Amino acid sequence: MLAHTPVLLNEVIGFFDPKPGKKFIDATVGRAGHANQLVNGGAEVLGVDTDSEVVAELKSQSASRRTKIKAVVGNFGNLKSIAEENDFTDVDGILMDLGLGSHQLDDSERGFSFQKDGPLDMRFDAKSQNSNIKTAGSIVNFYAEKDLLRIFFQYGEEKRFGKRIVGAIMARRKLGSINTTGELFELIKQALPGQFRFRAGDTARKIFQALRIEVNDELGNLERGLQQAVSLLKSGGRLVVISFHSLEDRIVKQFFVREARDCVCPPSFPVCRCDARARLRILTKKPVMASGDEARTNSRARSAKLRAAEKI
Ligand SMILES: C[S@@+](CC[C@H](N)C(=O)[O-])C[C@H]1O[C@@H](n2cnc3c(N)ncnc32)[C@H](O)[C@@H]1O
Repeated sequence: MLAHTPVLLNEVIGFFDPKPGKKFIDATVGRAGHANQLVNGGAEVLGVDTDSEVVAELKSQSASRRTKIKAVVGNFGNLKSIAEENDFTDVDGILMDLGLGSHQLDDSERGFSFQKDGPLDMRFDAKSQNSNIKTAGSIVNFYAEKDLLRIFFQYGEEKRFGKRIVGAIMARRKLGSINTTGELFELIKQALPGQFRFRAGDTARKIFQALRIEVNDELGNLERGLQQAVSLLKSGGRLVVISFHSLEDRIVKQFFVREARDCVCPPSFPVCRCDARARLRILTKKPVMASGDEARTNSRARSAKLRAAEKI
């Protein structure tokens, strides 16, 4: 197993202050970069990941090192039932380190990277028993033109060339299916005006991001996961979320603001008529970003934004 460098590790540990007797859920445990540090502080950790391969690796490691990480396969969109099944309710902290890990990006068979040729898959849970049947390939080959446009525009934030790329996909479908990341990258490159082709990677990154979000319903799961996470925290427990693009960060920011308000009545109401009470206190007015040193040594940290809140 390759070494993994967790993003914003000191900051995460600073918010959680792990100690014996404390319980945490790492809802995106991956290769346990953060979870191991929580365990080293003496805490107990439930490590959840939707990728069954990474959970299997973690289980075999945990068995040999007898760490206190209890690793389970699951989607944080169902965090409440996963936590209840594993007796991890009323916890001191929940971490969500969103997106994909190096273990997924580096494996060409998973189809996440346009820099390595592989099948157009992109499912986080490709090897799980109940894995999603939607893949990047099924989207590229079968989605309606308007739906492709919508996801490239909304999830890829590709406003300039989205239409050209969708046009190229529709034309290519008439000749046969698009099966690999390499084929899709080449198609994206050829769809760009000549002077932009040397930077085709910038556009491909956005299109691949859009497909990954759609395949894994990443934004829907994030909304559901955040809601459920709050109900699993004890009073004073903390929720820490690290996101890597503006769509995720906006969801986290708006969720925290909503949950930190005592009243959710429309501004036009002269008096409050709702029973809403704030459930969270925001700990990060602005998102925490990686230090210059971390950003220099870990490219993934450059776009990371951490937001934290405490259960009231
Ligand atoms: C950035 S990595 C986590 C890295 C981890 N913090 C570490 O230090 O090793 C994100 C992980 O979240 C997992 N993941 C993505 N979406 C998920 C979801 N909805 N539920 C559970 N895990 C998810 C991915 O499979 C991946 O392993």
